[in-house]
Amino acid sequence: MTIIDGKKVSAELKSAIRDEVIRRNSLGLKQPHLAAILVGNDGGSETYVAAKVKDCEEVGYISTLIRFPDTIQETELLAAVDQLNMDPSVDGFIVQLPLPRHINENNIIEAIDPSKDVDGFHPVNIGKMALGLSSYLPATPSGILQLIEYYKIETSGRHCVIIGRSNIVGTPLAILLSRKSSPGNCTVTLCHSQTKGLKEICLQADILIAALGKPAFLTGDMVKQGAVIIDVGTTRVPSATTKSGFRLSGDVNFDEAAPKCSFITPVPGGVGPMTRIVLLQNTLKAAGDKKQ
Ligand code: GUN
Repeated sequence: MTIIDGKKVSAELKSAIRDEVIRRNSLGLKQPHLAAILVGNDGGSETYVAAKVKDCEEVGYISTLIRFPDTIQETELLAAVDQLNMDPSVDGFIVQLPLPRHINENNIIEAIDPSKDVDGFHPVNIGKMALGLSSYLPATPSGILQLIEYYKIETSGRHCVIIGRSNIVGTPLAILLSRKSSPGNCTVTLCHSQTKGLKEICLQADILIAALGKPAFLTGDMVKQGAVIIDVGTTRVPSATTKSGFRLSGDVNFDEAAPKCSFITPVPGGVGPMTRIVLLQNTLKAAGDKKQ
């Protein structure tokens, strides 16, 4: 059994991005600039956005964080999105989700210029992805594909079972892994809360991806001997042994599942660090060959 080391892979990819920024500078190309809009002060969102700003500093990007109180009206937020759309110094930006309930997330995502949508959430980018055209891929699915590639895990002809059909993980992953490409060519089963006979379906999986957001949901008796397990879960659960008072729990019962696997991602240190790298990669793509 091999534990997939997302920390190591992401560190290598980050170092390659840093080198690319140095190369760009020497050629007089534009320093990539990522902006983030953060509404309110949800603990998880604060942590993610702070990490994204730190990543930018480490690779030599410019970053801008724009904060709004959670009382902001949708029209004001749309105006802020429009400003970033029109700002030539900003190559790409994200609006951190979730947003307060009085704001319609779809309206905000659809207002983002698709050429600056480095989260890959805009319908134009999802549509391009589904057609196999060049687009910004959403961070978690793209990070998982890169881990699969790095560890030379065969996907062609294999049965991939995905649990969870969210717009940002399960659904795009199902599209990407069933494409005629490498990684890809999987036979994909996309399971969700209404799926019947989930355990029997999971037992047929060569590659099992848990992305439903329920701590330790996938137990050892749901895993076929030799399966590859990708754990996307990152739920904060209370913990008496950490300073913060919580720890991250994956969707997989690691201790039960690991002995049966050929490969498995840990939580933390598996998929998580890769998602941040994809945002940097997409921002680099957005900066393209623009001059300084
Ligand atoms: N909230 C949780 N994950 C993400 C992400 O990848 N992008 C944005 N914008 N918000 C998130």
